[in-house]
Amino acid sequence: MPANSNTEHKLTVRKGPAEIPQDPRSVFEGSVVLSHFFNAMSLLFPRGEEFFIDSVRKFADRTPPELKSDVKAFIGQEAMHGKVHRGWNEHTQASGYDVSAVANLMESALSNFDRLDFIHPALGLSVTAALEHVTATQSAWFLRHPEFVGRLEPKARDITLWHSCEEIEHRHVAFDLLKVVDDSYALRVGGHVLGQVLLWGSAFYGLGLILSQEKSLTVGEMLAELRQNLPGLAEFTRNNVEQFFEYFRPDFHPEDDDSRPLAAAYLAEKKIA
Ligand SMILES: [Fe+2]
Ligand SMILES: [Fe+2]
Repeated sequence: MPANSNTEHKLTVRKGPAEIPQDPRSVFEGSVVLSHFFNAMSLLFPRGEEFFIDSVRKFADRTPPELKSDVKAFIGQEAMHGKVHRGWNEHTQASGYDVSAVANLMESALSNFDRLDFIHPALGLSVTAALEHVTATQSAWFLRHPEFVGRLEPKARDITLWHSCEEIEHRHVAFDLLKVVDDSYALRVGGHVLGQVLLWGSAFYGLGLILSQEKSLTVGEMLAELRQNLPGLAEFTRNNVEQFFEYFRPDFHPEDDDSRPLAAAYLAEKKIA
């Protein structure tokens, strides 16, 4: 178990918000394109989080006793995230956007991931640890930028921030397990690079697929929306790029940037702690 692990924080599996955003075009105030960015990100969660769960379960017999309860809670939290986002995605589909190709693509990529075991049996766990860093640091960014998340419609905001808080809470779990299974730097950064390709490839595929079916605005209007929202998007992108490089630090640990107080404050304020 790495010395800087954070197992003293007990993880809680909560029931997620019951309601989902009703109009896929109005998820993000004033921008159909950004609304669809959130719809596209939501498409990735159910299958992606199932993959995360499988990748930690694969090493159940090598999980140290002190990490076991965190792994169990990690699985519970990710399963609940998948359930809530599945509801969101079904609504996107029912609203007239055929997004089934994204689920199919993810299914074929992730259900065959074990074929890469010849590279390293823990490659999937390494991808999970890296993507947990992405979700946790994006989550912290959301909590630090109320002017941005304040533009999400209330139900989308509740889901995004509840999910964000739990991503922050369990950010160390896959990473600490990977360290126990194989502490190799090459494995860690290899999973990081592969994870980024899978994540952003799927996200932009999903976004393109939805936007190609969006009839309410022209390509020119989409570009104009992007220009209007450039400051927020640039800031979000800059954070992602910085955190991408941060993960390459040899002594990196997910808890180095402890954003737990932000998550705890939000959960307490919403009375869902
Ligand atoms: Fe999650
Ligand atoms: Fe997670």
